[in-house]
Amino acid sequence: MQIDRLMLEKTIEFPDDQAASGRSFGREEMDLLEQALLSGTLTSTKGQFVKSFEQRFAALHGVRHALACASGSAAVHCAVAAIDPEPGEEIITTPITDMGALTPILFQGAIPVFADVDPRSYNLTADSIASVISERTRAIVVTHLFGHPAEMAAIRELGEKHGIPIIEDCAQAFLAETADGLVGTTESIGCFSLQQGKHITTGEGGVLTTNDYALYQRMKLFVNKAWGYGDPQPDHYFLALNYRLSELQGAVALGQLEKLENNVSVRRKNAQLLSQLLADVPGIETPASPSNSRHSYWRYCLDIDPGLIPEGPDALANALGKMHVSSAPRYIQKPAFECAVFRDRQTFGNSRWPFTLARPEALDYRRERFPGAYRALERILVLPWNERYLEIHVKRLASAIEAACRDLAGRA
Ligand SMILES: Cc1ncc(COP(=O)(O)O)c(C=O)c1O
Repeated sequence: MQIDRLMLEKTIEFPDDQAASGRSFGREEMDLLEQALLSGTLTSTKGQFVKSFEQRFAALHGVRHALACASGSAAVHCAVAAIDPEPGEEIITTPITDMGALTPILFQGAIPVFADVDPRSYNLTADSIASVISERTRAIVVTHLFGHPAEMAAIRELGEKHGIPIIEDCAQAFLAETADGLVGTTESIGCFSLQQGKHITTGEGGVLTTNDYALYQRMKLFVNKAWGYGDPQPDHYFLALNYRLSELQGAVALGQLEKLENNVSVRRKNAQLLSQLLADVPGIETPASPSNSRHSYWRYCLDIDPGLIPEGPDALANALGKMHVSSAPRYIQKPAFECAVFRDRQTFGNSRWPFTLARPEALDYRRERFPGAYRALERILVLPWNERYLEIHVKRLASAIEAACRDLAGRA
């Protein structure tokens, strides 16, 4: 199709996950919400909706415990708090993630130590993690970015060898699978986000999964100001917050959970179609398909070769924008450690705590240490994606991308 025709063509509205068009809310959530409201009990300490959601989330994942909380950031905070690092101990993580997965580490007095990512999967690898393990490492946070499961078998082996627990950040990866099972079920703790743009949503919200009763108990206390509900002589046992999900959110979460499997399968089917349609387009690579595992496509990411598409993702995004197709070059503008909180160590007052406790090597953010992360950010183009896309949207996307790439590559 000619690029100028596509530019003139009346826009097909793409479903938008920030609005009703791209979300899966319906009568089910309305009915549950009504029941929650009419019950008059909106706190999960007394109500049934959050509890039912947790039970069903655990059953769907085949784990012993699921625990709802206020956000994906809160989930990571609970997970770190349950591991309970000493101030200044280190938690290995990725520089390409949401800041909400990093600041909780600092709030718990631990030091995020960044390992490099694989430039195609965008995930940490066992090798990159191994290169930053130290005697102070207390945990590893592995993020399954965009829904692409990380290579967990090798990472698990490494964790076991060093006796280091693994926290999976599954905020973007509901029902993604490795050879050993669903993400969030095979390591110490899984963290999920129910924020507006995720596979299922309650606007804001989070979920934790674990098979370890002691970790579950500690996380449950952390969500509840460490108050010993039900104990003969309850107390606030340690420093903790109120990170509860409300019953209103619990009701919506219950409705949404019923739709999760379908949401993921539509995303997968459409992603497969788009990858087929783009297979021969010059200058781009479709998402790497992980071996023995299943992507769950929070987003659909293209790898752009700047050798073939001059100015890479920026030029392609610009050309697509003219055809009313939105996309995001880079995903995040810079690796997390270039943000002020890490660069200037802006934390509590002027203290810079807990960075003041860190080994200098743990704060080594030199560019040459992160070739994979910089390469990934320079080449990635992120396409919005959700379960309300129809074949017509996928075909429209494919023809716009193909026309733009052929045009840009022709100018190279
Ligand atoms: C990978 C990842 N981790 C953690 C978070 C934090 O989740 P929330 O925004 O629900 O706090 C997000 C963002 O939503 C995320 O994408």
